[in-house]
Amino acid sequence: MNSLVTIEGVKKTIFGSGAVNQIGMECKSLGASRVLIVMDRTLAQTDICSRIQELISKSRLKAFLYPEVTPEPDPMLADLGAELSKKEKAQCVIGVGGGSTMDVAKAIGVLAKNDGKAVDYIGLNKVKKAGLPAIMVPTTAGTGSETTFTSVFTMRETKTKGGINSPFLYPHTAILDPELTLELPPYVTAYTGMDALTHAIESFTSVRAHFMSEPISLKAVELISENLRGAVFQGNNIAFREKMIMGSYLAGLGLAMSGVSAVHALAYPLGALFDIPHGIANALLLPYVLEYNYPGDINKFCQLAIAMDQEIEGLSSREAASLVAEAVYDLAMDIGIPLSLKALNIPEESITEMAQGAMKVEVPIKNNPRPMTVDVVEEIYRHAFEG
Ligand SMILES: [Fe+2]
Repeated sequence: MNSLVTIEGVKKTIFGSGAVNQIGMECKSLGASRVLIVMDRTLAQTDICSRIQELISKSRLKAFLYPEVTPEPDPMLADLGAELSKKEKAQCVIGVGGGSTMDVAKAIGVLAKNDGKAVDYIGLNKVKKAGLPAIMVPTTAGTGSETTFTSVFTMRETKTKGGINSPFLYPHTAILDPELTLELPPYVTAYTGMDALTHAIESFTSVRAHFMSEPISLKAVELISENLRGAVFQGNNIAFREKMIMGSYLAGLGLAMSGVSAVHALAYPLGALFDIPHGIANALLLPYVLEYNYPGDINKFCQLAIAMDQEIEGLSSREAASLVAEAVYDLAMDIGIPLSLKALNIPEESITEMAQGAMKVEVPIKNNPRPMTVDVVEEIYRHAFEG
């Protein structure tokens, strides 16, 4: 730990099956009678959407639906949502969905009270004042966006990704209802779960990790690695879904406190240049980056091996630490994650450009437990190319 530790975050978390039934009461407790609900188009056609709208209207609140979020969202989606929010005089924003939806919803909340457009705030601490209070309702166990101070956007004209990072983006309330994840298809469960595992491992091994984030991140590693296969293969088993949503929430808390590292930096160009969903890009790259990283912090990687239930008796600590990459690779393979860049049709000629792009994602690169150079990044991509 090499700097001051400041703990901030989501103010209130409600966890458990049926937690979503509290949503109307939570809006009221924030003093809101007019609420904006942010979703993607697919979710807007499901029972989850009608149930939430019903819960809001039963509480005698006025709801406005903004069902326009798309994967790897463009910042313009937040601008349009903020316009609607201002027009309808919303007093609270609810984000229901995966990471893209929650990121857009958090940005809408901020833009409703700050001038300008979402792109103006990409960077660190550029937001001037608090936005509308926000309630996040994740429907995947993945991004942990319900706990973080970041909204990530994809700028397609410049083929880059970037985030608004501001304490004003912390949601007021997170409602974690594992029942809302029961219908998630196996593949989405798999790659969103691997994103959560990436947050857990990267925040645990980040050079900014500290006494408070470390046990939280490590617990997340344990919960996710124990339950992700079950959630993928027995999606309607609530016990697996409960553990996964707990794990992704804890991983999000770890991320909010200590950041992520090189896997996220290397994943960004895959999203920006080739529209690969964030979770898939992370899942694919995680074992290859860990293989490079483990000598950077043998002790922490030994703890990860134990959290992932690896047999380490009789092994040297270096040998035990090296098991983590293998355990992650096996998990990813079991749940059907593509494990090579080739499998995603990424052209080999793009590797140099991708490596340069990854090095520009400076904060995660700096957080990495083993120093990264553009040559190392290129080498990792080349290793991941064939798999
Ligand atoms: Fe992530």
